[in-house]
Amino acid sequence: MNDFDLLVKGGMVVNESGVLVRDIGIRHGKIAAIADHINERGEQLIDATGMYVFPGGIDVHTHLAASVGSAVSSDDFTTGTIAAACGGTTTIIDFVTQNRGQSLAEAIEDRHLQARGRVAIDYSFHISPTTIDDSTIAAIPSLISDGYPSFKFYLTYDNLRVTDGELLAALVKTRDAGGLVCVHAENYYMIDYLVKELRAAGKTGPRYHPLSRPPLVEEEATGRAIRLARLVNAPIYIVHVTCQESLDEISRARANNVPVMGETCPQYLLLSCDRYDEPDFQGAKYVLSPPLRPAKNQPLLWDGLANDCLQVVSTDHCPFNFDGQKDIGKNFFSEIPNGVPGIEARLILLYYFGVYQKRLSIQRFVELTATNPARIFGLYPQKGTISSGSDADLVVFDPERETTITKGILHENVDYTPYEGMCVKGWPVVTIARGRIVFQNGIFTGSVGSGAFLRRKKPALL
Ligand code: URP
Ligand code: ZN
Ligand code: ZN
Repeated sequence: MNDFDLLVKGGMVVNESGVLVRDIGIRHGKIAAIADHINERGEQLIDATGMYVFPGGIDVHTHLAASVGSAVSSDDFTTGTIAAACGGTTTIIDFVTQNRGQSLAEAIEDRHLQARGRVAIDYSFHISPTTIDDSTIAAIPSLISDGYPSFKFYLTYDNLRVTDGELLAALVKTRDAGGLVCVHAENYYMIDYLVKELRAAGKTGPRYHPLSRPPLVEEEATGRAIRLARLVNAPIYIVHVTCQESLDEISRARANNVPVMGETCPQYLLLSCDRYDEPDFQGAKYVLSPPLRPAKNQPLLWDGLANDCLQVVSTDHCPFNFDGQKDIGKNFFSEIPNGVPGIEARLILLYYFGVYQKRLSIQRFVELTATNPARIFGLYPQKGTISSGSDADLVVFDPERETTITKGILHENVDYTPYEGMCVKGWPVVTIARGRIVFQNGIFTGSVGSGAFLRRKKPALL
């Protein structure tokens, strides 16, 4: 008779509080013991000597099987969560996006039907309302108590955007019920004006995408969203922050005790708008919104992560194949489906460019990829920490393994990676999700359908 289902022995266990060499005993999907030496037996054993052991990654911003009008993102709940598991992510929070005019209840049911039984790791949903009437606002408290405590509102995109008045009403109701409003901050009218100007001037290729959404577009909307939140003292979380102007808005607000939090994504930390100049329409691979920025923003984003202006690194994983999907916009950049892949490489990139290159401490890495996402989005301490009683979601990570990232070694269902050719040091060798080994020796070893839907608690403000 074994005492544990799984023993992870001798790894450098990283929590936000520090790094300790420990054995971890896992029973019934939970962390049952953490000690210097565990002498009892385990049914399975992983020797983690010389490896880091991180809390399983939590990616709070993914768009699997997401319909953007002209295309559906190419990773569905199965392929996307397999890729996540292979990259050390054990929980995702995706979106229920209401179609205009559709009831929220129907949108939620539809999304559950799309995901149920097809997910390889634990998952949850933010709600993205697009029809803001009395019934939508009235539904917010019951959604929060049903386990959907976070809402994402778009200030741009034709089919998704909400008005300032609608956002304000949602901020108030969400504040009163203890939830969190997340905002995609770009000014719709500025973009509309610039897109029309560029089109009239015959500037239709991918290189004009960033010119249609300059930093001012993001700065204005970020500042406006924060001011609306400030007016009613409601917490707010700004998704995919890309540039100095937005960082300035957030840090000024935080310095004045406005409850603002924010995230950025690997693409904004590592890729610049030069990519839009790639020949043969290849720039379309990087068309996402907000767009990639001049490289001078990257050190500022890293500083923002290190100094707690930003609390989370998510991916905004929203993949479209270059052949057959991105080329929908061959004749005009504004018709290119918006989004890039990234669900698999998040920990790898943040470890190498963040920790290895000394921009982040290893503890901060764990905070940004797991602990803060869990706290902010109501999953802590079930997730986001290596502690007794928490879910046994772990990544055994080899800090010495050198790899060149290529599309061929990733599991994402898309025909390119924006990180092609990047040489990194550090790679996950084992991923454990609720006590099950779901990735080992480069292979997905989990089972599709074993991911559980997570009803979340109320968010914490960081
Ligand atoms: O271009 C992007 N970011 N696509 C995904 C949808 C969104 O705006 O987050
Ligand atoms: Zn967005
Ligand atoms: Zn997104």
